[in-house]
Amino acid sequence: MNRYQQELEKRRKSDLLRTLPSNTDKIDFFSNDYLGFSRSKELQQLIEQECRSRKHVRTGSTGSRLLSGNSQYVESIEESVAHFHQVESALLFSSGYNANIGLLSALGKKEVTFISDELIHASMIDGLRLSLANRRRFKHNDTEDLERQLSKTAGEKIVLVESIYSMDGDIAPLQTILEICKEYQAELIVDEAHAIGVVGQKGEGMCSNLGIQNEVLATVVTFGKAMGTHGAAVLGEKWLTKYLVNFARSFIYSTAPSDHQLASIKCAYELNQSSSGTRDQLQSNIDCFVSRRNEFSELQWLDSSTQIQSMIIPGNAEVVAAAVSIQKSGIDILPIRSPSVPDGSERLRVSLHSFNTTEEIDILFTALKNGI
Ligand SMILES: Cc1ncc(COP(=O)(O)O)c(C=O)c1O
Repeated sequence: MNRYQQELEKRRKSDLLRTLPSNTDKIDFFSNDYLGFSRSKELQQLIEQECRSRKHVRTGSTGSRLLSGNSQYVESIEESVAHFHQVESALLFSSGYNANIGLLSALGKKEVTFISDELIHASMIDGLRLSLANRRRFKHNDTEDLERQLSKTAGEKIVLVESIYSMDGDIAPLQTILEICKEYQAELIVDEAHAIGVVGQKGEGMCSNLGIQNEVLATVVTFGKAMGTHGAAVLGEKWLTKYLVNFARSFIYSTAPSDHQLASIKCAYELNQSSSGTRDQLQSNIDCFVSRRNEFSELQWLDSSTQIQSMIIPGNAEVVAAAVSIQKSGIDILPIRSPSVPDGSERLRVSLHSFNTTEEIDILFTALKNGI
């Protein structure tokens, strides 16, 4: 065995080996397709019409945006994304991962300190690692600790949070965080991956919904979750877009999105605008789930009021066994192991969707009761 194979073997022995699951047709309590857009026939038709209506559709964009990959089409979509979110400018990236690593590595000069919530997503952590900036962390959603960390930090400061946390499903106290940032002359960046499409009457996300969209340095919205497609955008002022076009390496050295991807993003925004009923349906499923959850108070639920609900089952082997048992009832549910989450906080992560039925929620709770 070479050193890499030995490493894999070590992972396997500690129940940490990652393998690709096979696709199933079970009840979906695991995908990020919160509004069912990725399975929406309406969205598929909109995309087909959009592609047919355009004269020169290319299968590939042929190069980086700074070389042959730019087009009026991509610029017009960025304009409409910016318009929807009521910001000066939007810059598309091929994924949320690339948006976060591009944004943070570009902004993270050595004079800067990033102060991040301890639960920020791996893509932000990797962005920090690629940057030259100093780093501090504050306890999850703990605004007193944020203040403590800010007060200990001299120079330029940028605070990093998510609006809805991907693993705990809880919400950042954004208004308080913003006030504290202002007090300490710090900038704020918000990752809205799990809020876009879900939060607000028009699915505009948390910052826009709270009226603070233009008070933060940048927000990152991603299209692979509630929007049912793929890609991401960094929203901010015009200078920020200009800066990223010059310094964000994941933007500069990567092929621009294809016309089909652009059409998908455009149409997902169209469908999103007319989806308030779908959002209401999601909310009523969340309400139903939370009231059922409270009947099972002996289980260790995290306190979440969003579409992401997690139940702590400490231990990697234990959480995997629980997931396998529940999957036998025809349910797709994800065990989240450490180190993806802190040691001891391994969990079953339940993703709720607009298309889940009350009956499916009942099946899930019966399976949880029997399987844990
Ligand atoms: C909070 C958060 N940010 C960014 C990303 C990355 O986005 P993408 O999947 O588009 O690369 C994810 C994906 O899971 C996420 O949960």
